[in-house]
Amino acid sequence: MQIEGCVAFVSGANRGVGACFVEKLLEQGARKVYAGARDIRALGSHDPRMVPVELDITNAEHVARAAAFAEDANLLVNNAGINRLEPALAATDPSAAREEMEVNYFGTLNMIRAFAPSLRLSGGAIINVSSILARIALPSMASLCASKAAALRMTEGVRAELAPHGVRVLSILPGAIDTDMSRDFPPPKIPAAEVVQAVFAALREEGDEVYVGTMAQQIAADLAADRRAIQTILAGGV
Ligand SMILES: NC(=O)c1ccc[n+]([C@@H]2O[C@H](COP(=O)([O-])OP(=O)(O)OC[C@H]3O[C@@H](n4cnc5c(N)ncnc54)[C@H](OP(=O)(O)O)[C@@H]3O)[C@@H](O)[C@H]2O)c1
Repeated sequence: MQIEGCVAFVSGANRGVGACFVEKLLEQGARKVYAGARDIRALGSHDPRMVPVELDITNAEHVARAAAFAEDANLLVNNAGINRLEPALAATDPSAAREEMEVNYFGTLNMIRAFAPSLRLSGGAIINVSSILARIALPSMASLCASKAAALRMTEGVRAELAPHGVRVLSILPGAIDTDMSRDFPPPKIPAAEVVQAVFAALREEGDEVYVGTMAQQIAADLAADRRAIQTILAGGV
């Protein structure tokens, strides 16, 4: 798929990876970029091709309105996500796990269901921004890992359902990215632009799962070689 001339919709477009998607899509010649944000006043670019859309992906009304308004979109970037940084058992806020599921799993599913009819007509593409933590548990944020794992499985199902309609569905699995979400993580962290460039490259190539950055690529290789060994390392010897 070509970025030049495409019409994209990006969720969580006001900061972090989402804001970078908007910037790079515009730079590389997208015809229009719908920028979904919970607070549209927080959107940065004043490019006339950027169209602000109020969007909380857990709000069914917002999602339906966004899909109807942006029915010409042929590239859906499901980027919005949260990480409450909570373990499974010792969570300080037991509701965090449900919130992560609501946003990262159900919110993403809401968006795909709403945009699928128009994407089927355009034969477009869906980008689901997942995480390497969809493939393995980091105990200090186990509920985030579970929500991303659920979304990864769901993405596989959606991919199969949409393939006959010529719609590509990609899972993007980065390691730590240098954004607000990972502000308290130690380096190394990849720049948001590296994630966006990897997505653009993947849209020109074959493949369904895109591992971005050395950390994600190494963990994916370790999982393929010896799942138990890498799981033990990430679990800190537990
Ligand atoms: N940062 C990392 O290390 C990392 C690593 C792997 C994967 N990822 C994934 O990359 C994606 C982007 O994350 P980021 O690093 O850019 O994080 P971020 O800087 O925290 O930005 C998250 C974005 O998602 C939006 N959002 C959260 N809940 C939403 C909802 N219910 N409806 C609509 N928008 C919502 C936020 O909006 P508000 O401004 O209104 O809160 C914000 O725009 C996420 O899916 C994340 O899981 C991040």
